[in-house]
Amino acid sequence: MAERVTASLNTYRALPKVELHRHLEGSLRLDTMVDIAQKHGIEIPEDVLRLSTMVQVQEEDKFTFQNFLSKFNTLRLFYRSPDVIHRITREAIEDAAKDNIRYMELRFTPVALSRAERFPLHDVIDWVITSTKEASEKSGVIVRLIASVNRHESADLAEQVAWLAIEHLTDGMVALDLAGNEAEYPSEPFYGIFKEAKQSGLHVTIHAGEWGPAKHVKEAIEEIGAERIGHGVRTLEDKGIVDLAREHGTAMEVCITSNYQSGVVQSLDTHPLMDMLNAGLNVTINTDDPSISRITLSHEYYTACEDLQMSHSILRERIVAAAQAGFLAESEKEKLVEQLKKDLKM
Ligand code: ADE
Ligand code: ZN
Repeated sequence: MAERVTASLNTYRALPKVELHRHLEGSLRLDTMVDIAQKHGIEIPEDVLRLSTMVQVQEEDKFTFQNFLSKFNTLRLFYRSPDVIHRITREAIEDAAKDNIRYMELRFTPVALSRAERFPLHDVIDWVITSTKEASEKSGVIVRLIASVNRHESADLAEQVAWLAIEHLTDGMVALDLAGNEAEYPSEPFYGIFKEAKQSGLHVTIHAGEWGPAKHVKEAIEEIGAERIGHGVRTLEDKGIVDLAREHGTAMEVCITSNYQSGVVQSLDTHPLMDMLNAGLNVTINTDDPSISRITLSHEYYTACEDLQMSHSILRERIVAAAQAGFLAESEKEKLVEQLKKDLKM
């Protein structure tokens, strides 16, 4: 019997990549956490494996969004100094470079980073911007930043973040994102803020159709003006909304492993990635929280092709589609797309 020829992870590592959906707070290296804890006297378990259970998804965890989100509660304890924020930003970009990511949009949550030490939001944003510029120049990864606001926080805080992001439009801040617990917190209180942000020049991406129904995707597109949707896997539950997203060309920032670990799908091989693609949705492949999920973007490309049977030619197309959906200036985008096509031999 003929055996299906599978490619090794190295095949995917070698591909030039584009990441549109990665949270800085979900990208901390475990050994960096240990080091920060020692330097700042943060109490963590002596055994690194026990620390891992608090901040990374384990095979034996119950795969629910509550458990997934709970990892961020421990992670929040580590943001103790400007140096920590510089370091985690730099390392997130170094890790992307190692995975041959050429273009990355890194999203961060200023309110979460500021909490432990009550840092002013504008300082936190400045620190992330400064380290991003340095690490991006050094590594060659083109990086743009997205400010995230969590649904469970107040609209007032979201507005402050939005205004600060607008002030930094020329420093690589390109978009505003609504994240967090979609199942329990509606997006309605944030409509006005996102509309204003968009009018002021920020792009908009919204976590929707992940832990909530397809109608959240419709709201994000029609009421908030989202150009991209974080996840959007549940769009398929409503054909009319699939049509809406397809007609708008809305890019879906799909994160396969994250969806499995947070209970959106019951197993990796029942993920609807290929159904989304076959329905004509503009699918892109991303990591979400690589450290929490213990993955790289190469792993996600591997899973798409080896577990979900995406062909390599479609994968190459989706990499270019991600670049085309990127929130970078048109002239920069053209250059990026051209280089990717060359390197992907398209
Ligand atoms: N914040 C970090 N990861 C997230 C996810 N998968 N959904 C919503 N908010 C998040
Ligand atoms: Zn996310």
